[in-house]
Amino acid sequence: MADEEKKPVDFSEEEKDEEAGFTLPRCALPITGLLVLMLAGAIIYFSMGKYEHISQGTFVGPGKCKECHPQQYASWKKTRMANSFNVLRPGEKSKEKRLAGLDTEKDYTLDTSCLPCHTTGYGMVGGFVSIEETPEMAGVTCESCHGHGGSYATTVMDPKTPNFETATARKAGLVYPPTEVICRECHNSRSPFVGMNYKFHFDERVRLGTHEHYHLKYQH
Ligand code: HEC
Ligand code: HEC
Ligand code: HEC
Ligand code: HEC
Repeated sequence: MADEEKKPVDFSEEEKDEEAGFTLPRCALPITGLLVLMLAGAIIYFSMGKYEHISQGTFVGPGKCKECHPQQYASWKKTRMANSFNVLRPGEKSKEKRLAGLDTEKDYTLDTSCLPCHTTGYGMVGGFVSIEETPEMAGVTCESCHGHGGSYATTVMDPKTPNFETATARKAGLVYPPTEVICRECHNSRSPFVGMNYKFHFDERVRLGTHEHYHLKYQH
């Protein structure tokens, strides 16, 4: 009996709920709008932060570094990495490309999936655009390992202040010494030539693939 009496009460409550259910979107709309705006704001804020970090330093190209580091330049120029753009050309490394399942006749110098690892600063300020427009940025150059030079080359690194602090140069974007993390940006399994059992021996590779190392004159 008591249950039966409750039923209408329940029913009216349901109705109220439904009413509330209908009014909810009306006040939820501005709230959702506000949340969307806040989210968009946060996304813009963080991506701008990221973009600022990237654009803070402009890539200057190895010719700039050469002005003050001719020995490292000469030694680097002979490495495979300095010439790593050329392997993208049709007819180059045909045997290796065939083994990796690539098209030996295709011109990969225009393939945007290869360029981030076979050029310097692809898609970034001062970085590689095309072989015609930015020939200096083809291949793995100084700034792939040492960071974009726009904010440290000729400013912190100045022949007038050759005893600058490494920390000051680092704040301006210098990566020194380059660690395995830097190498791993390219030496990883996204490369079609790198198998699952790829081993990257950092110390050995530094000796083989960067440039000869010379004693610096000053303490930093
Ligand atoms: C205007 C001259 C100049 C230019 C251009 C320049 N550097 Fe330097 N750099 C120096 C001097 C001077 C030193 C200190 C040399 C010494 O101690 O013998 C130095 C030191 C360095 C060091 C060692 C830093 C340390 O704290 O031990 C690295 C790495 C380096 N330069 C990389 C580069 C790269 C990469 C570029 C190009 C993006 C570049 N430099 C351009 C002048 C220059
Ligand atoms: C994630 C970075 C990355 C991408 C993307 C990439 N490569 Fe490479 N590529 C490398 C690295 C690193 C090596 C050197 C591997 C080693 O010796 O350890 C290499 C080596 C090569 C070689 C030389 C192989 C040999 O045995 O001499 C060729 C040719 C090549 N890549 C072509 C390409 C082509 C074509 C593409 C695009 C379809 C591409 N790569 C995409 C990083 C990359
Ligand atoms: C921007 C991408 C990139 C970065 C960063 C990079 N590499 Fe490479 N590396 C390559 C590519 C591409 C090749 C293949 C060049 C070729 O065969 O034409 C290569 C080849 C090499 C080779 C030649 C392999 C051989 O047997 O002679 C060595 C050694 C090497 N890298 C060491 C390093 C080290 C050490 C670092 C970090 C300090 C590093 N790499 C950072 C892209 C990169
Ligand atoms: C593949 C990565 C890579 C590239 C490309 C590269 N470097 Fe280096 N560089 C290194 C590493 C690794 C060291 C050694 C850091 C250490 O001593 O631990 C170094 C050290 C240096 C030093 C300190 C002195 C010395 O000889 O060791 C200078 C200066 C320098 N590099 C300049 C250059 C310049 C200029 C270029 C381009 C012409 C260049 N590097 C290209 C990885 C690279």
